[in-house]
Amino acid sequence: MTLWSAASAAYVVAVLLFIASLAGLSTHETARRGLRFGIAGMVVALGATVVLVARSADALGIVLLIAAVAVAAVIGLSRAARVEMTGMPELIALLHSCVGLGAVCVGWNGYLDHTEVPARLADIHSAEVFIGVFIGAVTVSGSLVAYLKLSGRISSAPLTLPGKNLLNLGALALFVVLTAYFVARPGIWLLAAVTVLALALGAHLVASIGGGDMPVVVSMLNSYSGWAAAASGFLLNNDLLIVTGALVGSSGAYLSYIMCKAMNRSFLSVIAGGFGIQATTGGDTETGEYRETSADEVAETLANASSVIITPGYGMAVAHAQYPVAQLVAKLLERGVRVRFGIHPVAGRLPGHMNVLLAEAKVPYDIVLELDEINDDFAETSVVLVIGANDTVNPAAEDPGSPIAGMPVLRVWDAEEVVVFKRSTSTGYAGVANPLFFRDNTRMLFGDAKDRVTDIVTVLERVRVH
Ligand code: TAP
Repeated sequence: MTLWSAASAAYVVAVLLFIASLAGLSTHETARRGLRFGIAGMVVALGATVVLVARSADALGIVLLIAAVAVAAVIGLSRAARVEMTGMPELIALLHSCVGLGAVCVGWNGYLDHTEVPARLADIHSAEVFIGVFIGAVTVSGSLVAYLKLSGRISSAPLTLPGKNLLNLGALALFVVLTAYFVARPGIWLLAAVTVLALALGAHLVASIGGGDMPVVVSMLNSYSGWAAAASGFLLNNDLLIVTGALVGSSGAYLSYIMCKAMNRSFLSVIAGGFGIQATTGGDTETGEYRETSADEVAETLANASSVIITPGYGMAVAHAQYPVAQLVAKLLERGVRVRFGIHPVAGRLPGHMNVLLAEAKVPYDIVLELDEINDDFAETSVVLVIGANDTVNPAAEDPGSPIAGMPVLRVWDAEEVVVFKRSTSTGYAGVANPLFFRDNTRMLFGDAKDRVTDIVTVLERVRVH
């Protein structure tokens, strides 16, 4: 068996492991196994590639390969070890930009070094170079803007340039024309022009999308990075990259589609940078007066409640409040109170973020319900504890003029009493004011969510509340 066919066999094994990994990641119970399959697939793929390159490269090539892998491994390990769960989307966005950058470099290299391309395939090669660079550059700048928005370095509000849809469509049309020119007469200036065009388009597409729709953007960029990798696979004649890129591209596209459905958004509109979405009038300023409460009062209310629903959000993750929340749940269950969780599909900053945190704190799965399963039950609930959630419980979503209009939200205000745990009345990720805080049946419990929940647990432990 030649080295090439041995490597191809290893690539097939890696691809099968990646498919098994995706299947495993689809449920909580099998997620760990899915991760192990993914790691094994990556080790096989990397090992085969290193052996293949080492056999054919000269000494300098091998040194460069080892240096590149070492630098990447050090950066990857140190970032992964330090990242907080709440910082994961930013890290993922940065990693997507690296995939895009890789595709741009592969494309440029394919243009500069085309000695092995037979003349009859030259046109196809040129098209691959051009399209690869375009997809890669859109991914680089789009992911960087997503990173800046997710990490709060720039505002999450949508950028609404005049004629933004025309700008996007114009950029796409220009890309098609430039591709035709490049295939007919490849030239470095055309490649430079498409790189700049794609960088501008990627940045504009993501900048145009508002904070509330960022979860879809992250999975959409995940999809773009997959297609960028697949494009590189065609250029490098590497089946593994083509198949893996297609797996990432299609699963990312499907995840974006599911998220759009969950958030009542048009898939096409989001991937086209908010195409067709009108600028809205909803503001980020507070309205009305709120009522404040204390841990003692809430403990008493809870002890006398018959049913409680907890709707956690990003603030629970930041405060690491899931552990005292689990203790609180145990205390209430001991007292015979019916306790359940209502989980919004985009609560927190990652798909399934709240589910992971609650599982970590050993909250039983069967009391953790999805938005659709629990939304009609708020009306028969004594108390709702909104712990560090904001956009996902915002009644403004029912106002057609609001930037989050139409987004399904947890209707917590239907309950008899609502207690909101947060540090101020400031807005959530989407930057939209929340009228829930000023409703008659809402009380605000200000402070760090972990401290306040711990206070309530302490009161419940200390005194027998009637
Ligand atoms: P958000 O709307 O982001 O609100 C979280 C609230 O937590 C903030 O208003 C903040 O208020 C409070 N908070 C922060 N630290 C806290 C602490 N230590 N203790 C107590 N409260 C604290 O949260 P959400 O309801 O979970 O909504 C998620 C938002 O993120 C949505 O807009 C969603 O579209 C977006 N998003 C989601 C994802 C995914 S995939 N889930 C990805 C990207 C973006 P204070 O500052 O007043 O305390």
